[in-house]
Amino acid sequence: MRIIVTGGAGFIGSHIADAYVAAGHEVLVLDSLWEHGGGRRSNVPERAGFVHMDVRDEQVERIVREFKPEVVSHHAAQHSVAIGSRDPKYDADVNVRGLLNVLDACVRGGVKKVIFASSGATFGTPDHLPIDERTPQRPESPYGITKMVAEHYLRFYRSEHGLDFTALRYGNVYGPRQDPSGEAGVVSIFIGRFIKHEGVRIDWDGEQTRDYVYVKDVAEANLAALERGSAGCYCIGTGVRTSVNAIYHALVEICGFEAPITAGPKRAGDARDAQFNPELAARELDWTPQTNLLDGMRRTYAYFAEQNPATAKSS
Ligand SMILES: NC(=O)c1ccc[n+]([C@@H]2O[C@H](COP(=O)([O-])OP(=O)(O)OC[C@H]3O[C@@H](n4cnc5c(N)ncnc54)[C@H](O)[C@@H]3O)[C@@H](O)[C@H]2O)c1
Repeated sequence: MRIIVTGGAGFIGSHIADAYVAAGHEVLVLDSLWEHGGGRRSNVPERAGFVHMDVRDEQVERIVREFKPEVVSHHAAQHSVAIGSRDPKYDADVNVRGLLNVLDACVRGGVKKVIFASSGATFGTPDHLPIDERTPQRPESPYGITKMVAEHYLRFYRSEHGLDFTALRYGNVYGPRQDPSGEAGVVSIFIGRFIKHEGVRIDWDGEQTRDYVYVKDVAEANLAALERGSAGCYCIGTGVRTSVNAIYHALVEICGFEAPITAGPKRAGDARDAQFNPELAARELDWTPQTNLLDGMRRTYAYFAEQNPATAKSS
């Protein structure tokens, strides 16, 4: 199959591109290498093509017409809740206008299906846990709003133009290649600090929980969505919720180093708990997460240690 992965130079998108290439598909990555994102040219698999382009660029249609993909995996995004909250217009420009530019190109280029990186952020603070596909979506950030709006546009393009879709609502994805700086996931931020033998900041009381899902399991969900999940939106999580304090203690075990802790305040808009029920994904996508958090953290640590041998050696 021929597949374009937008955002395929980024953290999650590059693992998806890897999985598609490994499965024998022909992959083209389209990515702007946005300065505040996790995109790196070196993340793109050798056997995939690469186009350095913004998803809002009108040339996207030409790329789609020339490559003639059957599927477009849309992972390019303004991915940061904090940036989206500071600059909702930019968030909407990339996450809505960029999406529409890609969808129009798909319709004109004869693409059959779009796989979309949606988010648990579309749910806001749910009344009950675990979150599942019947949980009302009440996003509390511009980022969550644009991800939810995107799902509505996908439904519209399917009914209006016959462009099929699967939307995958990820929990907190972690793993190799996640940017350890900035506001990326706590697992990679902590690992980055532990490896340098630096202290970590734990906000609130550290008992806030998230559903952490390993990036290679997310890539598997994207493989499953090539053939399954027509017109569906799925929660892609593990069903397990883990506190920030538990992540810290697991890393002390893994690294043999007790990083000093600085206490930080609760961050505005931070939800207390998140946990996803992945049963619908199991039934309809035939997908279940395979990696438990400790194993995934060990693999992530090994990756970052390899990237930083000088600092990691002493641990
Ligand atoms: N990381 C998570 O836990 C998580 C959870 C839910 C959803 N998502 C979604 O998954 C997708 C990938 O996220 P990630 O964590 O890998 O982030 P990332 O920043 O590593 O990847 C996003 C990629 O999109 C590219 N990009 C950004 N703006 C672009 C533009 N205007 N045109 C073309 N390319 C552009 C970036 O260069 C980057 O390579 C995003 O859509 C994000 O919203 C991520």
